[in-house]
Amino acid sequence: MDYFIYISRSLVPTGSSAAAAIFLTARRNNAQAGITGYLHHEDGHFVQVCEGHRTSLVLLYHHLLTDPRHTGLRMLARGSAPGRRLSVWDMAASEEEALRFADWSGGAPLSKLVPRLSEEQLFDFARAGLAAVRAGTPPAPGAVTALTAAPGPGDGGHRRRS
Ligand SMILES: Cc1cc2nc3c(=O)[nH]c(=O)nc-3n(C[C@H](O)[C@H](O)[C@H](O)COP(=O)(O)O)c2cc1C
Repeated sequence: MDYFIYISRSLVPTGSSAAAAIFLTARRNNAQAGITGYLHHEDGHFVQVCEGHRTSLVLLYHHLLTDPRHTGLRMLARGSAPGRRLSVWDMAASEEEALRFADWSGGAPLSKLVPRLSEEQLFDFARAGLAAVRAGTPPAPGAVTALTAAPGPGDGGHRRRS
């Protein structure tokens, strides 16, 4: 099972029908392609975790690179794993109106926080988001304290990127 996690700058407003169309396409196509994961839209950025078979992910990656609804795609982590780490058979999605990661991080904007996370923290971020989406409520404050303590580049932290 392969995976990749990226951040990109959104060119559509949160809560818009343009954003909703992206989520709909992702769900529909990913169900067919066996791609699962989590897509979050906040602070003018998308963060997406995708897990699936290599050929499906390569195809999706090429779609993403040329999609005019976002820009500046920056790969944060990618590789292979024995199985899926996010056990949801669809592409769960959330936007800042319902779920704001900045609330957890002591106000650090998503675009500053996420690129500083290790791969394991990125998966924790996605698990927390998925759990909140499923429960229909934001996570309790402190649920992601580990995220806020994320070491940054040059901090001598443990960053696992492949
Ligand atoms: C932020 C973002 C995330 C996306 N995520 C997915 C996705 O998970 N799966 C997918 O098939 N398309 C996704 N898309 C859309 C693709 O870029 C592309 O438009 C789509 O795969 C084309 O499918 P279609 O020919 O069925 O419209 C995403 C687009 C954006 C901007």
